Amino acid sequence: MKIAILGGTGSIGGGLALRWALDHDIIIGSRKFEKAELTADKYRTVLRESSGKTCSMYGCLNEDAVNDADVIVLSVPYEHAVSTIESIKPNLKEQIVISIVVPMEKAEFFKYSPPACGSAAMEIKSKLPEGVKLVSAFHNVSARKLYNTNDELNMDVFICGDDNVAILTVSKLVKDIKNLRPLMAGPLEVSSMVESITPLLVNLAIYNKMKHLGIKCV
Ligand SMILES: NC(=O)c1ccc[n+]([C@@H]2O[C@H](COP(=O)([O-])OP(=O)(O)OC[C@H]3O[C@@H](n4cnc5c(N)ncnc54)[C@H](OP(=O)(O)O)[C@@H]3O)[C@@H](O)[C@H]2O)c1
Repeated sequence: MKIAILGGTGSIGGGLALRWALDHDIIIGSRKFEKAELTADKYRTVLRESSGKTCSMYGCLNEDAVNDADVIVLSVPYEHAVSTIESIKPNLKEQIVISIVVPMEKAEFFKYSPPACGSAAMEIKSKLPEGVKLVSAFHNVSARKLYNTNDELNMDVFICGDDNVAILTVSKLVKDIKNLRPLMAGPLEVSSMVESITPLLVNLAIYNKMKHLGIKCV
């Protein structure tokens, strides 16, 4: 499968790219072409050194990344999610878009700060052209743990969406990452609950001097 990661130069985009690269074709999207190319080059080197294997990965502008992709991961900070969608909109076909976006702010502690429509996912959906299927996932997985490919993940990934085929595709992509288990959480409207777990995990980590927490249902 061809997966474009918009903002793939960032923390969690890098982790997802490294974890998927041996099974899929990865396109690293960025606002800057040179940054995309250099980052893809860096990830290829990291993979070669850690696994001895080569992979199919290249970098390009976000808007070009979506052209060839079957699945598009929106991996930019919440504040820039809508502008990123606007920039790629003319190139979108009827692909699957995965939102991993969490709107949160730091005050005395981390708070979930969704838009008026309820969640980042619902806002992003309202900006996407008809035919594009949005699935919400990966909000509660630590970027650092994904990036360190020798780290055992042993976590659950809650998935929200309204299109069954798209949900199955994303569940398969979750399973393609060793020791991640996809769990269906409900329609896209449920994404607010899943997104809001992330600031909770960050607060738990800070108050209890823990690192890179995730969720596992037992
Ligand atoms: N970090 C985590 O552990 C984690 C876990 C779960 C979910 N998430 C969510 O995943 C998303 C990405 O998180 P992250 O930590 O990877 O973020 P990040 O490293 O701060 O940023 C990711 C990428 O966003 C792009 N970006 C920055 N400013 C932008 C702008 N003004 N317009 C468009 N793109 C811009 C940059 O790519 P270019 O400069 O190359 O364009 C950057 O590399 C966020 O929505 C976050 O809530 C993060």
